[in-house]
Amino acid sequence: MDKRPAIIGDMFDRIAPSYDRLNKILSVSLDRYWRKKTIQSLGIEGDCLVLDIATGTGDLALGALRDSRCRVVGIDLSAGMLEQAARKAWRYVDTNRYFLINGDAITLPFRDETFDRAMVAFGIRNVIRLDRCLDELYRIIKKGGVIAILELSVPSNRVFKSIYFTYFKYVLPVIGGIISGSNQAYRYLRDSVMDFPPPDVLLKLLEESGFTVIASRPFLLGISHVYTLKRN
Ligand SMILES: C[S@@+](CC[C@H](N)C(=O)[O-])C[C@H]1O[C@@H](n2cnc3c(N)ncnc32)[C@H](O)[C@@H]1O
Repeated sequence: MDKRPAIIGDMFDRIAPSYDRLNKILSVSLDRYWRKKTIQSLGIEGDCLVLDIATGTGDLALGALRDSRCRVVGIDLSAGMLEQAARKAWRYVDTNRYFLINGDAITLPFRDETFDRAMVAFGIRNVIRLDRCLDELYRIIKKGGVIAILELSVPSNRVFKSIYFTYFKYVLPVIGGIISGSNQAYRYLRDSVMDFPPPDVLLKLLEESGFTVIASRPFLLGISHVYTLKRN
């Protein structure tokens, strides 16, 4: 699977205008609840500085901005996704607290120990080098800082897994293709989820990168997980 930044950025540029609508349809709005729980797991306090990696159209960042007085820096490879985030921000939040940067999660343009919190929703499986992304996360977060990673995963229950595979292989690329005009993007979604380390392997990688795992919470029989980590 080709995860070079230029390829991934172009792909998300193409689906950016239909991303939110499709997200709602394909996840039957479950994504809203998962993002809410992800934000809650961070325990955001006061006006702390939060990094939202792969901010996309901004739903995670906007949720955090609405729920607290924090400031959020959102970074993303796709200018098209960032444009959607900026439009929504103007409508829904105090834009003096939301900053958008076009950049790559594996070379974050920030000094060491800049952020109090960091979060990433449905973004980490897209990076070309997971190890480098985790090293960067570790570098930019303050000691004792909390990180939340929300990511899709393959359910472990055998029956549910086969229903999920059928949906992922045959339904999702067709609906995704019709609404967004890009079959390729939704085939990529399917392949990138299948290819991503399962929760037990990911948890090991997170600990090897120096984080303490505070919690790992599955949603809906494991079709997604939120991992909450602390930087030692
Ligand atoms: C599935 S969307 C998720 C967006 C948003 N976080 C959400 O919850 O809806 C994945 C996002 O990750 C971004 N992305 C992929 N690889 C990236 C990378 N290496 N660095 C920064 N952003 C990346 C894409 O451009 C896209 O906006």
